[in-house]
Amino acid sequence: MHKAITVTKDTFWVGVNDYETDLFESLWPLPQGVAYNAYVVLGEKTAAIDTVKGPKFDDYLDKVAETLAGRSLDYLIVNHMEPDHAGLTAQLKRVYPGLKIVGNAKTAPLLKGYHGIEEDVVQVKDGESLDIGGHPLFFYTIPMVHWPESMVTYDAATKTLFSNDAFGGFGAHEGGIFDDEKPRPRWEDEMLRYYAAIVARYSNLVQGALKKLKGLEIKNIYPAHGTLFRTDIGQVAELYDRWSRHDTECGVVVAYGSMYGNTRHMAEAVCGGICEGGVKNVRLYDASRSDMSLILRDIWRYKGLVLLGCTYNTVLFPTVAALCEKLINRMPKNRLLGIAGSYSWSKGALAALRAFADAVKLERVGPEVEVFTAPTPADLEQCAELGRNMAKAVSAGQQ
Ligand SMILES: Cc1cc2nc3c(=O)[nH]c(=O)nc-3n(C[C@H](O)[C@H](O)[C@H](O)COP(=O)(O)O)c2cc1C
Ligand SMILES: [Fe+2]
Ligand SMILES: [Fe+2]
Repeated sequence: MHKAITVTKDTFWVGVNDYETDLFESLWPLPQGVAYNAYVVLGEKTAAIDTVKGPKFDDYLDKVAETLAGRSLDYLIVNHMEPDHAGLTAQLKRVYPGLKIVGNAKTAPLLKGYHGIEEDVVQVKDGESLDIGGHPLFFYTIPMVHWPESMVTYDAATKTLFSNDAFGGFGAHEGGIFDDEKPRPRWEDEMLRYYAAIVARYSNLVQGALKKLKGLEIKNIYPAHGTLFRTDIGQVAELYDRWSRHDTECGVVVAYGSMYGNTRHMAEAVCGGICEGGVKNVRLYDASRSDMSLILRDIWRYKGLVLLGCTYNTVLFPTVAALCEKLINRMPKNRLLGIAGSYSWSKGALAALRAFADAVKLERVGPEVEVFTAPTPADLEQCAELGRNMAKAVSAGQQ
């Protein structure tokens, strides 16, 4: 990945792979790295679309210079001010002093705040265009996908949508950068994990963005993270549409918190019941040991969720409580929820899960199970019943 790559006429990928950042946003693990995709479009004038994360400046700049082949850089289009894309704005302007920075009204205060830049800013409105000579670039705001100032850039000449965080995914480029150069499960899993971790909270605004972009004839979707799509744009748009509509697959995530295994036995009994009920897609997660982004990813994928926790210092076990908090923030819909708790003296876990269930407003599947110390065979049968009921409920209406 040391060279720029031609991605369509006059258009180059000048992005980088990042294997050094271990936690994206200091939160989300990157076992397969992450890519920051940035682009250069050459018309009569030259334009860069987004930059990359700070420490990768030299790598990025080499590629930009390679594509420019001695020309100067006229425009930097800032689709999104988050520093993983716009962090190099001031540095780039120092290298190319004539650089004009293109953003919208909500970009301006962030540009001033992060980079002290107020001059040479071209402010564009939603739907406005900038013709760089041979490449009419249109800008469409997509508020909160991922920040208030987020926008996409559409090149009407090549019918390419530079979508920034939208349609983005974790994972560095391992070989090629395009969808037809990677196996779909590889990119889809990491795209959904990115969606669930970063974008899911704003799902209704994703729906708005999709509606806004619907009229465009799009041949390529080139996001700022992960795979570049040029083969079957429809399938990618459909994924985003489904995820943001809370449309799910038939399956159940069972996530638990347990110190000494008693609550885990309950969770395993639930899984047994789900299997008995004929549902194969069961994902059992120890909330203390599996990364939250994997659990969130599968919650976003599947229709059913069962949460179990023991009581810890009078409240719900902390790692399950943390998962509940993340879910409240993302407000999943159209899913089914089952809950179970354990205790030895004061209780607390199940009551907290009930409060969570009320707050998240998901349809409930029973029975609720509350277990004293170690689960008895009757307790485990109740857990299995919860699993069977969940299987029946998630199967209903699905093939
Ligand atoms: C450090 C610690 C704190 C606990 N706090 C409470 C509590 O406040 N109230 C309660 O009813 N049980 C409490 N328990 C008991 C556990 O909820 C109970 O033993 C449960 O069966 C443990 O499930 P596990 O085997 O899945 O870890 C606590 C246990 C431990 C180890
Ligand atoms: Fe972002
Ligand atoms: Fe990003």
